[in-house]
Amino acid sequence: MSSALRRETDATDPGPPDPPLVGDLPVLRDATVRWPLPPARLVLVAHLLDTAVPYIRRLAEVCELVGVVPVPYSLRRQALTRLADLPVLVPSTLDDVGPLAVASAQQAGARRGPALAVQEVGGYCAPHLSTLAGVPQLCGVVEDTKQGQWLYELHVPLPLPVFTIADSPLKALEDLQVGRCVAFTVERVLRTRFYRVLSECRVLVLGYGGIGTSLAERLRESGSRVAVYDPCEIRMAAALLRGLRVGSRTDLLGWADVVIGVSGRCSLGVDDLPFLREGAVLLSGSSKQVEFDVDGLCEAADSIRQTQEVTQLTVESRTVHLVDRGRPVNFLEQSVLGSVLDLVYSELYLCTRELVRSPRPAGLHRLSPDLQRTLARNWREEYGKF
Ligand SMILES: NC(=O)c1ccc[n+]([C@@H]2O[C@H](COP(=O)([O-])OP(=O)(O)OC[C@H]3O[C@@H](n4cnc5c(N)ncnc54)[C@H](O)[C@@H]3O)[C@@H](O)[C@H]2O)c1
Repeated sequence: MSSALRRETDATDPGPPDPPLVGDLPVLRDATVRWPLPPARLVLVAHLLDTAVPYIRRLAEVCELVGVVPVPYSLRRQALTRLADLPVLVPSTLDDVGPLAVASAQQAGARRGPALAVQEVGGYCAPHLSTLAGVPQLCGVVEDTKQGQWLYELHVPLPLPVFTIADSPLKALEDLQVGRCVAFTVERVLRTRFYRVLSECRVLVLGYGGIGTSLAERLRESGSRVAVYDPCEIRMAAALLRGLRVGSRTDLLGWADVVIGVSGRCSLGVDDLPFLREGAVLLSGSSKQVEFDVDGLCEAADSIRQTQEVTQLTVESRTVHLVDRGRPVNFLEQSVLGSVLDLVYSELYLCTRELVRSPRPAGLHRLSPDLQRTLARNWREEYGKF
């Protein structure tokens, strides 16, 4: 842990200032002025992408960031450099993220100061809730993602307040953009690594929820033939209603050239290998490495060949290709882009403010629908000008 706890020292020289790479966040800026944060300290677990820099900068202006813990697979060197003046604690592995964030909260809690909160993205602190609940001055956690919310829900009754935006109607708007961003990277990877075009591929989407729905639509717009599998019969009916191919899971696995997992669970494992087409390409558009049993697939392989971005596995003379070792492929391209980030960041900020402003009972909390509607209006007025 001590090496993981180290402050990144090779990034302390930010060098000459870069021109702004990503836009300002006017809706967030307005929210922080209109609804100011009382004095607060924050431990932030974040995807340290270039697109996150303005958000983290704004947070640093309105509260004391006592620790910023980047998720390793999305860490961008340039973002790290641009935030070199902040206490960024770089974890060695994904497993270190939660312990590092908790240790940072414990260190801050041991000092006298204003209220302390944790804001995170992926449920990394969920296994450590009982430790967090004992941290003096900690008023709770704010969680960004569905994956994270599911992990917190495993610990109900929660020992401390947890605000979630994962199932908020504002966050659902982001799904549209996530699907587009995943489709963009799928197309780019197929072109540059396989010399193929999406419009000539048969694509199976595993999981027809928020992101799966947007992704399938985008894939279809690009001209590919799209099938969907979801264990929920209602979601399968919804897919059929929209004209997508549905059927038995094994038939669809044998039909598809490209399989994209967006279920947020393990949607494909070793037992599925015999059903896949020769040369099938597997990509995730969800979280961490949850979508495919990466270790199991690699163990089952007779040979593994690693090329740029693609792991080629040969199992009993059948070849499958795993892209970016099963991590969400849109993180190869800064994850989610666009103005919707301003909306999501604003909701995260307001949840943090709610937590800090007045003590909340232990349990799951959400931003009030009134504030969600106000944020949606502010966002529409800001970005609907053109
Ligand atoms: N890559 C990104 O940038 C990004 C952004 C936001 C969220 N996410 C993550 O993407 C994942 C999916 O999010 P969502 O909002 O679409 O979730 P969701 O709950 O809306 O949809 C998931 C769907 O998957 C289905 N499903 C469950 N188990 C399955 C299985 N074994 N096989 C196939 N389908 C299965 C469910 O029935 C559901 O319909 C989550 O982990 C979320 O945190 C990723």
